[in-house]
Order: sequence, then structure tokens, then C-alpha cells
Amino acid sequence: MAERPHISVLAQEVLDLLAPRAGSRYIDATLGAGGHAAEILNASAPNGRLLGLDADPQAIPIAAERLKEFGDRVSLQQTNFENLMSVAKTAGFIPAEGILFDLGLSSMQLNDAARGFSFLGEGALDMRFDPRGETNAADLVNELPEAELADLIYEYGEERASRRIARAIVYSRPISTAAQLAAVIERAMRRRGRLHPATRTFQALRIAVNRELETLPAALKQAVEILAPQGRVVVITFHSLEDRIVKNFFRNENVLRVLAKHPLRAARAEMLANPRSRSAKLRAAEKVNDVA
Ligand SMILES: C[S@@+](CC[C@H](N)C(=O)[O-])C[C@H]1O[C@@H](n2cnc3c(N)ncnc32)[C@H](O)[C@@H]1O
Repeated sequence: MAERPHISVLAQEVLDLLAPRAGSRYIDATLGAGGHAAEILNASAPNGRLLGLDADPQAIPIAAERLKEFGDRVSLQQTNFENLMSVAKTAGFIPAEGILFDLGLSSMQLNDAARGFSFLGEGALDMRFDPRGETNAADLVNELPEAELADLIYEYGEERASRRIARAIVYSRPISTAAQLAAVIERAMRRRGRLHPATRTFQALRIAVNRELETLPAALKQAVEILAPQGRVVVITFHSLEDRIVKNFFRNENVLRVLAKHPLRAARAEMLANPRSRSAKLRAAEKVNDVA
């Protein structure tokens, strides 16, 4: 586990949009280190309640420690947010007045070399949020046929050099660490741009391993059903594929009113203080009617 703590992005914007109130119920579907959750609990004192979910079992005790001052106002569950509805039902969080998704990975996960998310990782090439997941990144990298690997890198990484990268990976198999994969990609790419040449491939593998583009629409659908009328859903994304899913979902869901036409971005000062916030986009919507 890493020493550097996770800094919550767009924290004030999340609070402004959720406008937490005493006596109300909130769901943080991506608890992480519990930063946003603590803000929501503070703002909904003395008796607002929060249900926090995270797929990563390592996140739960970290968040529990940070949120222990809020006592029984907090319920935490280690689960994928694709199970949002059943978890909310069991915990008594239907309807809820606000639901937050702060997608992607935490600094704790990125900085833990053993998880395989970072280019520098000398540990196994894993990338699972939940260690019970069936497939890890090393399985994909070492077992997929070259054409399928290229398609995956192209679709989930929006990487134009996907074929060249897939060929280099297949040629270098077996690849067992993140650092080894990053080095293979670096050698295969002729030019270096602003991004590390392995950035898009790592994103693609993480999305595939965690089925991110399937779980997000499933969870958003459930969130809309769980929301109380006038309840709000706030989603922070970190890449264009997930932002597109959220934008289209909000636009096509007729019980939602989109709260801002363009996504909110971090202010310059936040971007300087927390580089992770540079790619963050926040979208929010309010439920106008009950689904029934
Ligand atoms: C950016 S961090 C959240 C940070 C948190 N908002 C804070 O302020 O500390 C994202 C978290 O979401 C979790 N996560 C990602 N996808 C998930 C999913 N499908 N279901 C549940 N948790 C997920 C990750 O494990 C990670 O801990």
C-alpha cells in the first residue's frame, strides 16, 4: 500500500451539486480512500447517511478508518457497483438523494507496484480492482491472439499504433510485470509525445480486465431507479470512452435533467496541485420524476 494519500478531485463541485442535507441518504459507488464520502457526511450532519461501495477489498479498511468518526451513519460494502441496486436495497438506501461515481483508480492503487497499474511496477501485471476477478492483465497480454489484442488496444485505448504494439507484445511473450510491458511498448513506438507511449495500452488493459465499459452503464441505470425525485447523480470520468457513456446515458434517459451542458473541469489551481485532476470531467443530472 502506498504512502501517498489519494486526493479527491473536484471535491467542492461534488458538494455543490449533491448539496447534502441532514436526514438524507447518499451513495458513494467508488469509495476509494473515503475523501468525497467524508465531505458528504460532514455536509449532511448530524444524521445524513452514506452507503459506500468499492470493488477493491484494500480500499474498505482505509475508508473505514477515515470515516469512523461518523459511526453508524456509514455502511461500507466491498462489491462492484454493478450490484448497486441489490446492495442499496439490503442496506435500506432506496430511495437515495444523491449518488456519486468517481471512476477509475485511486492513487493508492496506482502507487502500489504490486497491483500492476503503473508503468514502473515490478510486481505482477495484474490490474484487477477486485482480486476475485477471473482475468488479469497478464492473462490478456500473454494469451490473446495478436489480432484480438490489437483490437482491444485500439478500442479501449483509442491507440492508433495498436497493431504495432500487439505485434511487439506477442514477439516478447511471456510478459509478467508492468515495467516489462511498458518497456516493450516504449521500444515498439518510434515517436514520443506528451504521454508515456504505454499510457493508452495500459488504459485499454485496465478497462478490459475490470469490464469498465459494461459495469458503468449497468450501474447508471440502477442509480436512476434508486434516486428519489430531485435526487442527483454525479459522475467524474477520466477518459473519453467513459465520458461518452455518461453523456449519452444522461441525454437519453428521460427521467433525468442534465445539470450542465458541458462537463465541469478542475480549476487551474487544482490541476497544478493534483495532476490527476487534469483529465477529470464531471457530469451531473437530476431526477425529474419517479420511474414508476
Ligand atoms: C478515483 S477512486 C475514488 C476516490 C474517492 N472518491 C476518494 O475521494 O477517496 C476510484 C475507486 O473506485 C473503485 N472502483 C472502480 N471501478 C469500480 C466498480 N466497478 N465498482 C466498485 N468500485 C470501483 C476503485 O477500486 C477505486 O478505489
